[in-house]
Amino acid sequence: MAKLSIIGAGAVGTAAAHWAAVKGVAEEIVLIDIVPDLAKGKALDIAQSAPVYGFSCRVWGTDDFAALRDSEVVILTAGRPRKPGMSREDLLRTNLEIVRSCAEEVKRYAPDCVLIVVTNPIDAMVYAAFRTTGFPRERVLGMAGVLDSARYRYFIAEALGVSPEDVQALVMGIHGDHMLPLVRLANVAGIPITELLPEEKIAEIVERTRKGGGEIVSYLKTGSAFTTPGLSAVEMAEAVLRDQKRVLTCSVWLEGEFGFSEVFIGVPVVLGRKGLERILTFELTEEERKALQASVEAVRKQMAITGL
Ligand code: LAC
Repeated sequence: MAKLSIIGAGAVGTAAAHWAAVKGVAEEIVLIDIVPDLAKGKALDIAQSAPVYGFSCRVWGTDDFAALRDSEVVILTAGRPRKPGMSREDLLRTNLEIVRSCAEEVKRYAPDCVLIVVTNPIDAMVYAAFRTTGFPRERVLGMAGVLDSARYRYFIAEALGVSPEDVQALVMGIHGDHMLPLVRLANVAGIPITELLPEEKIAEIVERTRKGGGEIVSYLKTGSAFTTPGLSAVEMAEAVLRDQKRVLTCSVWLEGEFGFSEVFIGVPVVLGRKGLERILTFELTEEERKALQASVEAVRKQMAITGL
């Protein structure tokens, strides 16, 4: 029986549990939070939607990490969200301790799981989880590329008045201002966006994508995006649970791919039962390579702050 556990019953963790239930990605979905009863209440609320929406998986919540046992996939969302004016980097120190202690629990109770890290700043936090668990790189993935690419695809679709489903585009690099929305490869049903949109409009979309998380923080004021982040993590979890071989951009530990090593960065990968099954490398233009280099340097600075 497939089991998915989600650590952190905040906005992102709760959204992930909700999406996982309605998408039916596992027979058992557990929501875990150290705040007593919080996860219990959130999970019970989701579980009670089952008769109305029509799903049959079991959704429950607890404050006991032992519930992680037998999870095939664990999504780690615990941590503080961004507040207006706060960069993802500002969060690093606070969330590092939280992520490390949760990763210890994952290692203890679910030593064979695939771990998906969502806590910000994602690339540094997935690195902390990788070091803390000692899991092989195949089983420690950061969620960012799915979310950033979704935003990029949405903005392109909006500009063209077409269905977002027909827009394919990828955002590589750090989950932060140095992320790399690739213009050359973005297309609408196979047609390059450079044939469909003027250069200035594309530049505007690229910039809005880079600041996509911040834009939502500026509206919400007391928190950050949660619906699409939660779904993006579930999309990755589903690819693993169902062995789908989906091609999704994830933050993974590079060992020479794209010319970089020993750094977590967003690249397109094949996700299946084993977690990261393959990194899809391709030739970057000089300009793209430089942009990816800037991303790598920004992540390395964050990694250094972790002291791991
Ligand atoms: C965002 C925050 C969660 O991109 O990083 O929405």
